[in-house]
Amino acid sequence: MNILLLGSGGREHALAWKIAASPLVTKLWCAPGNAGIARDAECVALDIADHAAVIDFCRANKVDFVVVGPDAPIAAGIVDDLNAAGFKAFGPTKAAGQLESSKSFTKTLCRANNIPTAAYEHFTDAGKAKAWIRAQGAPIVVKADGLAAGKGVVVAMTEPEAIDAVDMMFGGGLGAAGAEVVIEEFMQGEEASFFALCDGEHALELATAQDHKRAFDGDLGPNTGGMGAYSPAPVLTPAIRAQVMEQMITPTLRALAAMGSPYKGVLYAGVMVTKDGPKLVEYNARFGDPECQVLMLRMMSDIVPALIASADGQLKNFSLRWFDDVALTVIMATRGYPGDYGKGFVIEGLDDAARVERVEIFHAGTKADGSRILSNGGRVLNVCATGKSVTEAQARAYAAVDKIKWPEGFCRRDIGWQAVKRETAGD
Ligand code: AMP
Ligand code: GLY
Repeated sequence: MNILLLGSGGREHALAWKIAASPLVTKLWCAPGNAGIARDAECVALDIADHAAVIDFCRANKVDFVVVGPDAPIAAGIVDDLNAAGFKAFGPTKAAGQLESSKSFTKTLCRANNIPTAAYEHFTDAGKAKAWIRAQGAPIVVKADGLAAGKGVVVAMTEPEAIDAVDMMFGGGLGAAGAEVVIEEFMQGEEASFFALCDGEHALELATAQDHKRAFDGDLGPNTGGMGAYSPAPVLTPAIRAQVMEQMITPTLRALAAMGSPYKGVLYAGVMVTKDGPKLVEYNARFGDPECQVLMLRMMSDIVPALIASADGQLKNFSLRWFDDVALTVIMATRGYPGDYGKGFVIEGLDDAARVERVEIFHAGTKADGSRILSNGGRVLNVCATGKSVTEAQARAYAAVDKIKWPEGFCRRDIGWQAVKRETAGD
C-alpha cells in the first residue's frame, strides 16, 4: 500500500522508520520530512497546511493511507478534509482533537465525567483571573487555552509570577492562544506519558514513557518540547495503568462518542502520579515527541495494521507485541533553544555515532547540503539506544552523543535519571 506521512520532526522520523519496516508498504512518502527521514521515505516539499495540495498529492499518487504526526494539522482539520475527499487517515478529527487544542474543552469534559485532574477555573478577563489567584495563593498554574507551541503553561511558584503570566497572556504575549486562560491547582508528583491507540470506541494501551521537559540537567531551566525520554516509565505501575484506562481513557472515549465526535488516533495522556493516585495533566491528540521515538524502538509488531485498525474502528481484539528491553533517547538541540538559535551549522560524526551497538539516530531539525548534514531547527537530533536497563541504554546513547561533532549543539547529560536512581537502589 502507498502511505503518506505528514510532519518533519524526530517523532515523524521514528514513525517513518517503523512504517518503512512494514512488509505491507509499497511506497512511503513524507511531507515535508527532513534529512534523516529521506533515508526511510521519499520526502516531498508539500505545505501540509494547504489541505487541497495534500489531497491533490494523494489523488495523483494513489495514496491509500495518510498518517498525521504533529498537532497543528489535526487542529486544522486535515483528517476531516482527507476523509471528505475519500482518503483514509490516521488521527482524530478536528472536533475530537479539541482534547489537545482546547484546554477548557478537556477540563469541562473531565468535570462532567469525573476524570481526576487538577481543580480549575476558566477566565476571559484578567481582573477576575487575578482575584482568583490571590484567593488561592501559590504555587498555581496559569495556562493559555489555545495551542501555544509548548509555551502556554506557566507553573508559578509565587503569586507575582502567576499575576505576571496573566498579564502576559491577556496582553497578547501568546497571540490568540492567550485570549482565554485556565488557572489550575498545582499538582505535586511524578509525571509520565501514557499512550492509547483508539478507534472511536475501543482503546489499546501502548507502552509508557517519561520525558524530560526542562532544558538543563537536574530538571532546571525553561520548559521545552522535551529533551529526552525513556520507555517504559516504572512510575506507571500495572495498577496505575489500569486506573488511567478506567478513570481517564475509557470515560473520555465514551464522552466523545456520545458527543458525536468519536476519538480515533493515538490519545496521549500526560499523567501526574500524586499521593492520591494518577491525575490528568493534559491530553494530546498525537504521539509525544520524543516519546514516540522510544515507543517505536520497543514495538515488535508491525505498526501499519494497528494504525489502519484505529482508522477503521477495528481495535477490538487487536494486540501489539513489545520488546522487554528499555529504550532511551537524548535530544541534541541547538544552543539557545528553547529561545533564539541559529541554523545551518555543520554536524559531523553521525555515521560513527550510529555504529555504536544498539544505537539508532533519528533526525528532527536537519537539512541535507550535498553530503553534509546541517542543523535546521531547535531540536535537531534524537540519539536513541536500547538495553537491558535504563543505565545500559543511557551509557550507549551518551557514547554515541560523544562521537557527534557539533560545537553549536547541546544536550542534557542526565536523561533517565529517575529510572537510573531506581535501578541503582534496586527498587
Ligand atoms: P501542559 O502543556 O498542560 O502539559 O503543561 C506543561 C507542563 O507543566 C506539564 O508537563 C507539567 O510538568 C506542568 N504542569 C501543567 N499543569 C500542572 C499542574 N496542574 N500542576 C503541576 N504541574 C503542571
Ligand atoms: N514530549 C511532550 C510532547 O510531545 O508534548
